[in-house]
Amino acid sequence: MCSARTGRRKGNSVAEDDEHRLGTRVFAVVVADITTLRVDAIVNAANPSLLGGGGVDGAIHRAAGPRLLTACRALGGCPTGEARITDGFDLPARRVIHTVGPIWQGGTAGEPALLAAAYRSSLALVAAEGLASVAFPAISTGVYGYPPGEAAEVAVATVLDASAAIDHLRVVFCCFSSVSADLHRAVLHRILGS
Ligand code: AR6
Repeated sequence: MCSARTGRRKGNSVAEDDEHRLGTRVFAVVVADITTLRVDAIVNAANPSLLGGGGVDGAIHRAAGPRLLTACRALGGCPTGEARITDGFDLPARRVIHTVGPIWQGGTAGEPALLAAAYRSSLALVAAEGLASVAFPAISTGVYGYPPGEAAEVAVATVLDASAAIDHLRVVFCCFSSVSADLHRAVLHRILGS
């Protein structure tokens, strides 16, 4: 469990259960449906067509309404590892960052670098758009078959590193199961030493 119950500390501290503060950045782990989160942007684990699909992509399109598909059509697709941004339309989130993670092929086809690129590209848009909060699903760990533990290592390490230059940012690792949340928490605790 999170060590938050042992109290607050300065520096790389635990602010409350499942929240870690690092300077002006806050990293939280939650178990939730990402379409319910009221943040500046949620990240969609899309496919290169950006025209919708199953999993979190399908949920986001359903919750955002048909205007999201119209906006995505205008983007003309997105290569693996890159990201694009649209409005959130009917979502509580203001924007949607659409990124494409790799399909797991056994781990020797550059999957870790491509997964890291998906997180980095998304955070580059967060910085470029001046967003203050962003929620990520566990990209590639569903339909795309990336092993969840290995994906959590890449996700947390990459997000911590790639967000270092962004001030006053709240990052939510929005997990769809407690198992996934535990994996993300474990990496956060290990890297941040809390
Ligand atoms: N909120 C948060 N997380 C969710 C939600 C939700 N509503 N629904 C699923 N997850 P996946 P991928 C979790 O399959 O592996 C689509 O068809 C899920 O449990 O959504 O990157 C796209 O169009 C898992 O942990 O995305 C692509 O074709 C994580 O989100 C393909 O799937 C990612 O699972 C992308 O596959």
